[in-house]
Amino acid sequence: MKNYITTPIYYVNGEAHIGHAYTTFIADTLARSARLVGDETYLLTGTDEHGQKIEEAAAKQGKPTLQFADEISATFKNLWDEFDISYDQFIRTTDEKHKSGVQAAFAKMVEKGDIYKDFYEGNYCVSCETFFPESQLVDGGGCPDCGRATTIVKEESYFFRLSKYEQPLLQYYEEHTDFILPKSRRNEVISFVRGGLHDLSVTRTSFSWGVHMPDSLNDPKHVMYVWLDALMNYITALGYGNDGKLMDFWPASTQLVGKDILRFHAIYWPAFLMSLDLPLPKRIGAHGWWTRDGEKMSKSKGNVVDPREVAKHYGVENFRYFMMREVPFGQDGDFSQRALIDRMNSDLSNDLGNLLNRTIGMSEKYSDFCIDSVDVLKYHSKEINDAHAIISTLPAFMYDLQLHRYLEELWKIFSIGNKAIEEHAPWIKIKEGKTDEALATVALIANLLAKASVMLHSIMPKTTAIVADALGFEITTASYNTLIIANNLLETFDIKKVPPLFPRIDEPLMDEAPKAMLENETAPAVSVVVEMIDKKETTVGEDGLITIDQFFQTSLKIGTVLAAMEVPKSTKLLKLHVDVGEEYPRQIIAGIREYYSAASLVGTQVCVVANLKPAKLMGMLSEGMLLAAKDIDGLCLIRPEKSRIAGSSIG
Ligand code: MSP
Repeated sequence: MKNYITTPIYYVNGEAHIGHAYTTFIADTLARSARLVGDETYLLTGTDEHGQKIEEAAAKQGKPTLQFADEISATFKNLWDEFDISYDQFIRTTDEKHKSGVQAAFAKMVEKGDIYKDFYEGNYCVSCETFFPESQLVDGGGCPDCGRATTIVKEESYFFRLSKYEQPLLQYYEEHTDFILPKSRRNEVISFVRGGLHDLSVTRTSFSWGVHMPDSLNDPKHVMYVWLDALMNYITALGYGNDGKLMDFWPASTQLVGKDILRFHAIYWPAFLMSLDLPLPKRIGAHGWWTRDGEKMSKSKGNVVDPREVAKHYGVENFRYFMMREVPFGQDGDFSQRALIDRMNSDLSNDLGNLLNRTIGMSEKYSDFCIDSVDVLKYHSKEINDAHAIISTLPAFMYDLQLHRYLEELWKIFSIGNKAIEEHAPWIKIKEGKTDEALATVALIANLLAKASVMLHSIMPKTTAIVADALGFEITTASYNTLIIANNLLETFDIKKVPPLFPRIDEPLMDEAPKAMLENETAPAVSVVVEMIDKKETTVGEDGLITIDQFFQTSLKIGTVLAAMEVPKSTKLLKLHVDVGEEYPRQIIAGIREYYSAASLVGTQVCVVANLKPAKLMGMLSEGMLLAAKDIDGLCLIRPEKSRIAGSSIG
C-alpha cells in the first residue's frame, strides 16, 4: 500500500516553535508506523516562502528576500534533522520545480474554465494573507483570525470559481465521513460551506514576491495568492506539472494541519483538486494549539517554547512522547515542565524503565542473562493473550490519530508485566526451587517489553531500538511480522545490560536554579567518611580508634557506573547511576565534575558507601557516596585494583 503523509509547510518569517514540532512529530510517527508495517511511504515537509508577509519580514532585517528565506528555511530543515524526522522531501516554495508546477496547475484551472479576471476590493489581512468580508471583521476592522488591523485593498485579480464547488464539496463531506478529523471540526467546516462560498481572489498585483502567472496568460504584473501557491506544494513535491514521477503517491493518506488552517485545507484545497481532476486526500487531521503554562505563546510575551531547548534538556524522544501522550488529538494542550517531568517519571521511568531494569537484573541473577521463552506459554498464556488483545486495538487508534489513546492502551502491557512480577515473585520461586517458573516469568516480561517496544517504535524510535537491542532483536518489518502479526515469542537470547534509559528528574531543568542551591552545591560524596549508624555503640574511643565491628557498620561496596551525566546549572556535580548488585541501580550525586568528565566514568568501577541515609542535593536524591582521596594535586576516586562483580563488599 502507498502512504503519503504531509505536514503544513512552515512560514519562514520566524523560527520553529513547539507547535511546529508537534505537527511534525505526529507526521513522522504516522510515517514510521506505516513503514514498519511494510507500506511504501513518503513523508513531506518544507517551508512556505512567498507573500507580502515574508517580503516585509526580510525588508525589516535589511536582507534580500531570498537570502532571508534561505536562512530561516535552513533552520527548519536543520531542526528536523536534529530531531531525526524521517522526511523523504523537504520542499521550498521557492524551488523552481514547485513554481513551474504551480503555473501548470493554474493553467489547468484556466483551461477548466475555473479562473476569470475581475476587480477585488476588500479587507485584507497581511499577516494571514487573506481577504475577509466586512461581516467577518472584529473590533471595527480587525482580522477575525489574528485580530490584527486589516487594510482595504482594491486591485485587479484573477478569481477561482469556488462557488461552483460548494455542492460537490458538501456531497464529498457527506460521503466521506472521516475526511476531516476530529469529527467536531468536520461539522464546523460543513456549516461554513453551507453558509455559502464566494469565488476566491487568487492573484495579487500589490507585491511581486510570489509565483508569476503562466506565460500563456501573458500577465506579468500578477503573482499567485500565497495560499494557492502553498497548497499546491503537496502535489508539486510529487512532480505535478513536471515529470510526475511520484504522482502515484497521490492521493495523500493523511494531511496534518493546525486547527487555524483547516479551512484552507478542507475547503480551498479540495476545490482546487476537483478543478485539477485529481482525487482528494483521504484525511485531513486538524490538531489543537499549544499554550505555555496556560498562556498563549507569543514573541512579545517572550514565552515561546523553543523545541531545541526542550529537547536539549529532556531528550527529543521524551518530549515527543509527552506531546503525543498528553493531549487528545484536536484539543488544545498546555506545555509545562512539570507536566513533562511527571510523564517522564511516571510513564517512562517507573513503568517502562523499571520493567526493563528488573528484567535485566533478574536475568542476571537467575540465568546469567539468558532469556528463554520455552515455558512462557505454559505459565503465562493469559498474559500473552491479554497483551495481544491490547495490541490488536492499537492500529485503529493510530488511524484515527488518537495517539494519546494509542499510548494509554499500549501502557497497559507494562501493567500486565509489573503485575505478573508481583504475583509470581520469581525471587520466591527461585528459593522454592521452581526455577522453570521463575525463568518463565522473566521471559514473559522480556517478551512483553519486546512487543510493546515494536508498537512504541514509531513514537520513540531510538529509545525502542536500544530496548530491542538489549532484548536481542531489531525492530524491522520482519520482527513486526513475527512478534506482532504472528504473535510469536522471542528466540533464546542473552539480554544486554543497558544504562537506565529514563533517569528520574526532580526539578525543572529549563528554569533558573534558585541561587541558594547553586552556591550550596558541595557534595559530601568524595572523602573517606564513616557514617556512624548508632551513636552510642559507635562512639570513637578517646584514643581516636574504632573497633572492627564499628568499622563494619559501614557498608562499602564495589559499584559499576552504568550512566553518568552533568547536573545542569552545577559546575561541581555529576549524577551517576551505579550498579551495586541490587535490583535497581543507585542514583549518586557526586561532587567530582571538576576532576572527571561524565563520559570517562561510564563502565568504570568505584567504591560506594552503600548504607548512607539518602540525601537530596540540588533537589535530586543521592543514594550513596563515592570514596575518593584529595590532595593538592586534586581529587581521585578510589577504585578496585582489578574489576570485581558489582555489589562485592569491601573490607
Ligand atoms: N504556511 C502556512 C501553512 C501552509 S500549508 C500549505 C502556515 N504556516 S505557519 O508556520 O504559520 O503554521 C504552521 C503550522 O503551525 C500550522 O498548522 C499551525 O496551526 C501550527 N501552529 C502555529 N502555532 C501553534 C501552536 N501554538 N500550537 C500548535 N500548532 C501551532 O500556516
